[in-house]
Amino acid sequence: MNKINKLAVLTSGGDAPGMNAAIRAVARTGFFYGMEVYGVKRGYQGLIDNDMSELDNQIVANIIQRGGTILKSERSDDFMKTEGRQKAYDNLRTHNIDALIVIGGDGTFTGANIFSNEFDFPVIGVPGTIDNDLYGTDYAIGYDTAINTVVEAVDKLRDTAGSHNRLFFVEVMGRDAGFIALRSGIATGAEDILIPETETCITDLINKLKHDRRGNKTSGIIMVAEGDDAGNAYEVARKVSENFQGYETRVTVLGHVQRGGAPTCMDRVLASTLGYEAVKALIKGKKAIMIGKINNQAAYTPFEKSVKHHRQINGSLLEMARILSL
Ligand code: F6P
Repeated sequence: MNKINKLAVLTSGGDAPGMNAAIRAVARTGFFYGMEVYGVKRGYQGLIDNDMSELDNQIVANIIQRGGTILKSERSDDFMKTEGRQKAYDNLRTHNIDALIVIGGDGTFTGANIFSNEFDFPVIGVPGTIDNDLYGTDYAIGYDTAINTVVEAVDKLRDTAGSHNRLFFVEVMGRDAGFIALRSGIATGAEDILIPETETCITDLINKLKHDRRGNKTSGIIMVAEGDDAGNAYEVARKVSENFQGYETRVTVLGHVQRGGAPTCMDRVLASTLGYEAVKALIKGKKAIMIGKINNQAAYTPFEKSVKHHRQINGSLLEMARILSL
């Protein structure tokens, strides 16, 4: 058992729905075990700027249902430099803080890995990114809400696509990963799903669309992950339209709407569990690990590993989606 008197928590990188629920869980679990809990504003930049203050039960009340993050979030260039990390460490020491919990994605854990090795300071990571690309957890906080946002939007696009006999190219986020596109593409019955993990062949896509037309399809949805190798949704739409005029086409880029909104039940429960487990892991003496959920069990993955590996796409799901959209 490790005695932690003061704990700090921050959110870093792109915000994700459910981060507030995780902050609440960290704070309340900390209070339960007699800790003082500090909230750091603006991620690592707030650590460097000494922008932190003590949380109380009231501050974390009524936030479990709110999107965004009450602690705000940033991507800090200063934390990539030794001087920045030294300032961050000095500020933690000045406040007598014994341990840090960081909620974010792989950029956040890359920083956490360097920092915890440099200063031998206990840091635990909680996965929070709509991209869901982190190795060591089946789901990251925010992903479920984001895909449900996409599904709701695409269902609406289907209505208008059907009325006007149009083909929509819908671009979704994910940076260099296709998890959002794949899952929401399956859920919306997309005619094709283009993701960075597999090579996109425009000729194959056109052949599929021609086949659909012969089968009397009059409209469709092509889900395009923003990092696809064939380009963004505008580029893919142009490449298709140049060689196939079977449909009138339109492009919709869903953008940051995917990052907002009230977290789903699944994200609230995941965030609550991971926040709780993160504090318990610190009490057990764990450090430099990301806490995840694999097969519904808490799983510890060293930062070293979580930042080096990428979560793999399940290729058979893509094959299934193509068969089901015939
Ligand atoms: O990592 C989350 C994410 O939303 C990615 O899907 C996207 O590529 C990126 O962040 C967008 O970043 P920003 O908010 O800085 O434009």
